[in-house]
Amino acid sequence: MKKDKLLELFNSLTLEEKIGQLVQLNPDFLNESDTVHTGPISSIGIKEEMIPYTGSILNSVNAKQIKTIQKEYIEKSRHKIPLLFMADIINGYKTVFPIPLALGCSYDFKLVKETAQISAKEAAVSGIHVTFSPMVDMVHDARWGRVMESYSEDVYLNNQYAEAMVTGYQGTNDPHNNIASCVKHFAGYGGAQSGRDYNTVELSKRTLLEEYLPAYHSAIKAGCKMVMTSFNTIDRIPVTANKWLLRNILRNEWNFKGVTISDHSAIKELINHGIARDEKEAAQKALEAGCDIDMMTACYANNLSRLVKEKKLDISYINDAAFRVLELKNDLGLFENPYRGADEDDEKKYILAPEFRSKAREAVEKSCVLLENNGILPLNSNKKIALIGPYGNSKELCGMWSFTVDKDNVITVKEGIEKYSNNVQYCTGSQILDDYQVVKELNSLFGQEFKNQELVDESLELKCAKEYAKDADVVIMALGEHSYQSGEAASRTDLSIPKPQMNLFKEIVKLKKPIVSLIFSGRPLILNEIKKYSDAVLQCWFPGIEGGNGIANILYGKVNPSARLSISFPYHVGQCPISYNFLNTGRPNTKENIGNRFVSKYIDAPNLPLYGFGYGLSYSQFEYSKVSLSSKKMSMDTVIEASVIVENKSEYEGVETVQMYINDVVSSVSRPVKELKGIKKITLKPYEKKKVDFIITNEMLKFYRCDMKYDSEAGKFIVYIGHDSLTNNEECFELIK
Ligand code: NOJ
Repeated sequence: MKKDKLLELFNSLTLEEKIGQLVQLNPDFLNESDTVHTGPISSIGIKEEMIPYTGSILNSVNAKQIKTIQKEYIEKSRHKIPLLFMADIINGYKTVFPIPLALGCSYDFKLVKETAQISAKEAAVSGIHVTFSPMVDMVHDARWGRVMESYSEDVYLNNQYAEAMVTGYQGTNDPHNNIASCVKHFAGYGGAQSGRDYNTVELSKRTLLEEYLPAYHSAIKAGCKMVMTSFNTIDRIPVTANKWLLRNILRNEWNFKGVTISDHSAIKELINHGIARDEKEAAQKALEAGCDIDMMTACYANNLSRLVKEKKLDISYINDAAFRVLELKNDLGLFENPYRGADEDDEKKYILAPEFRSKAREAVEKSCVLLENNGILPLNSNKKIALIGPYGNSKELCGMWSFTVDKDNVITVKEGIEKYSNNVQYCTGSQILDDYQVVKELNSLFGQEFKNQELVDESLELKCAKEYAKDADVVIMALGEHSYQSGEAASRTDLSIPKPQMNLFKEIVKLKKPIVSLIFSGRPLILNEIKKYSDAVLQCWFPGIEGGNGIANILYGKVNPSARLSISFPYHVGQCPISYNFLNTGRPNTKENIGNRFVSKYIDAPNLPLYGFGYGLSYSQFEYSKVSLSSKKMSMDTVIEASVIVENKSEYEGVETVQMYINDVVSSVSRPVKELKGIKKITLKPYEKKKVDFIITNEMLKFYRCDMKYDSEAGKFIVYIGHDSLTNNEECFELIK
């Protein structure tokens, strides 16, 4: 529709109809039957007469249902303005990929973009218009359950992934292939204090601007059409009512023209935050601050028109926000075709297409991180295998957000391994958890029955596990946290593998058989004992529907692992939050300070994580030459080329992710000890060498200086190029201004 027609349509709307565009409800509200309304309506208390004006629907996820709702809605609506259908398509729709944190470990932005393209295709033909993804919240705390949805603890990686996901989803805005992307949770949600979900965030303005905001900004620069506000406060003001963030930063500085939406119930929660007396005041504060759509509360629906009539709210706030929603609908082509890509035949044709599955398998192969290997891997197919542990034959491999997956399509580890060996004995060995209460809560929320099959006779299982282990050449232990132990509202203070599984592991260790441990989790777990007693450890995350195939391909050497940790694995939960890019402090815990009590350290644990950022093994052995710089001096308008020669000293062809970090030695504010500034992926044949170079630019050296100006400062810099964030392969240069 042309803009003047859209304006004409908009001007013909009543105030209530405009407000309706700012209301998002779940599909139950629009169900034909009146009785179905009772539950949700009474729970959020929305005025019945406002329901028909609702502008968008949350989490309705198949073509048939979406088409029915849309058809009935349009038939009843005076202006025939279609509904927008939005859903949480996080790591895939039916072709479920590894969780975002796992994809973050691929360091492969092209691959990540391809996963988003496939998700968009499947979601588009199923009638979905907008996905609440990507989530690019910076995260340094493994206690926070939502680390699984994040890509990384690092600014550079988060920027790249944000761009890859947004461009992957949105593509050319083709109704049959693309959907709109909603970046979330703006802003700083990953900084929740104590790693507790929904908790307060306390960040300095400098850290917020420099580390937390850039990824959202990258999403916007990539054309992202929607932004979700976060639950947390920033500078004690909840983001959903934070004018500085929603207007000054997002609209004025970043020039964002799209739609903003609150997170679920966040407008009403302004009352709990203690910044609004009631729903009416909450509605006013949120809209004035710049939050366009109210997700799943009655605040806007019940109060905005009253606020205008009482002359407390300028109508322009409603007009601007509602018109943005109509523009988005128009941009997606809904006025021409309200069903957009929704097509049951296309659903059958494209969903889970073989090429989608093979991309999912590639994603598993590129995101499982090999943490330990004493040479036991890759396995030889002749070896007799005991596969033990609750993840050995589990289909629960997709993570908490994959409520659209059909679990029958998941390939288990057992199924994957059996493609290589007919000598596998499997038993579950133990339950995942000793106490299932936490899981039951989520099951009931998702309308699912608690799965009793998760309960096993542990003494029988242990007996069987020991017998199989004794009889085997190699024991593969498939262990981890429950998939509902990470994700939303899944913060943990104890990051160990649940007790029943650790007991099982210890019993198997006593048998002194070679052990390959596969770890399934949505977050870094504490793996000290697993490391100590395993011959190899593969961090598998929640790998999605092709998990079993991808993992088996790594175990048997069809694929050489190449993934790198995009987040630190703490040595002890007490180290959280932890990340590689910390500040030095006045009393750094350096080698020179060994034996000195009065430095910044723990007396009962190291400062460093068990496995650091950027770390990950391969079956190849890579060796680095010293860093060489094209010049030791750089001016504002020149660049330096930094290079290394990397050599594959093994018989395996492999992929190495070469990482460049920079440290600004002296500046007007304290700077991180290292910051990732670039990566290069190279494939090296056995014994092949390659030169890898990076260009260092002035842009890379900028930061928020003491005067809050974003710029570089003259002086000495150290550049590091190596295998991971612990590299000390360094060289210095000077920036002259
Ligand atoms: C709450 C979550 O915080 C958010 O990430 C999600 O998109 C919404 N619910 C909608 O389901």
